[in-house]
Amino acid sequence: MKILITGGAGYIGSHTCVELLNAGYEIVVLDNLCNSCEKSLDAVKKLTNKDFPFYKVDLLDYAATEKVFEENKIDSVIHFAGLKAVGESTQIPIKYYHNNITGTLNLVDIMQKHGVYNLVFSSSATVYGMPKTVPITEDFPTSTTNPYGSTKLMIENILKDVYAANNKWSITLLRYFNPIGAHKSGIMGEDPKGIPNNLLPYVAQVAVGKLEYIHVFGNDYPTPDGTGVRDYIHVVDLALGHLKAIEKKTNQTGVHTYNLGTGHGYSVLDIINAFEKACGKELPYKIEPRRPGDIAECYADPTKAKKELDWEATRTITEMCEDSWRWQSNNPNGFNE
Ligand code: NAD
Ligand code: WQD
Repeated sequence: MKILITGGAGYIGSHTCVELLNAGYEIVVLDNLCNSCEKSLDAVKKLTNKDFPFYKVDLLDYAATEKVFEENKIDSVIHFAGLKAVGESTQIPIKYYHNNITGTLNLVDIMQKHGVYNLVFSSSATVYGMPKTVPITEDFPTSTTNPYGSTKLMIENILKDVYAANNKWSITLLRYFNPIGAHKSGIMGEDPKGIPNNLLPYVAQVAVGKLEYIHVFGNDYPTPDGTGVRDYIHVVDLALGHLKAIEKKTNQTGVHTYNLGTGHGYSVLDIINAFEKACGKELPYKIEPRRPGDIAECYADPTKAKKELDWEATRTITEMCEDSWRWQSNNPNGFNE
């Protein structure tokens, strides 16, 4: 079975490529490298000892994307490609809507033209907006608080319409919680451009001495220690969730929605603590005001994925921090060593 991975050079995509190749799938990678570099794919090849075609193509380029389908007999697509920075999406919303939505429309149109009806889409817990309670199940109401989140929810709705119009489709919407960690080898991990927005890469860069201290956004939330609580999930567990989606849902027509999270919430201070243990040093932090738009608590009820995909996250917070630290300390400048 041959799987096209859009956004395969990115953080979650590259880890998924490794697991797919190790499981014996053939892959083709498409990425415009706007937020990644080809060295991540070199790492994938090194870790698996396997080769695969890579197309440096933008999904906004319809003809170039279609050529990938002409040159390869694709059975399924895992669609990671998209812009993902929440703050940036409020500054340049048109770019976010255009890239994420038009890119997906092009992809889906080309898939249908070429008779490829299996799609796994990277959605996000962001589609739950400000959930009233936790843990979050898939049937919770959806809403969004920023343009990035709106692109995810709009794409989910577009894909539901695509299926309604043509019941040949098998569409799996995977709603990720907070992916962190890195491949155990220490040669592949998250490589954010500029100053990281997300907690984990920020903490890792403080630990390696590239940033001075951690800004803790608020300690007056109604949580056990007052700081925000999230469902951090190891990127390799997340990658394995995609394998299960491919295994269980290929040619199972319909729209299938799953939370990919651990079901456990950790606070910002829990994370700092776990990272301190992993890197063996104390990490300086300062309590600051809440970040606008943040919620107190967000964690998944992952029961549906366990029941229907036979998937469960197994890697602990300790492992997530150790693996993240191994990658960060071996490669303080990411892939640009
Ligand atoms: P990433 O930025 O590392 O990977 C996305 C990849 O898509 C990049 O390599 C980028 O170059 C590529 N890309 C973007 N626009 C493209 C286009 N028009 N054509 C071709 N390639 C394009 O991000 P990631 O963390 O690996 O996230 C992967 C997917 O998962 C994204 O859709 C993201 O929104 C979603 N997601 C991420 C998180 C998270 O916290 N990392 C959480 C939930 C959902
Ligand atoms: C986690 C916690 C912050 C940075 C975002 C997107 C979401 C999804 C995952 C794509 C919060 C606190 C953070 C810092 C801090 N992405 N924090 N200091 O906001 O849960 O989710 O990434 O779909 O859509 O919104 O993740 O890592 O930014 O924050 O104190 O420097 O850490 O307040 O409680 P978030 P995050």
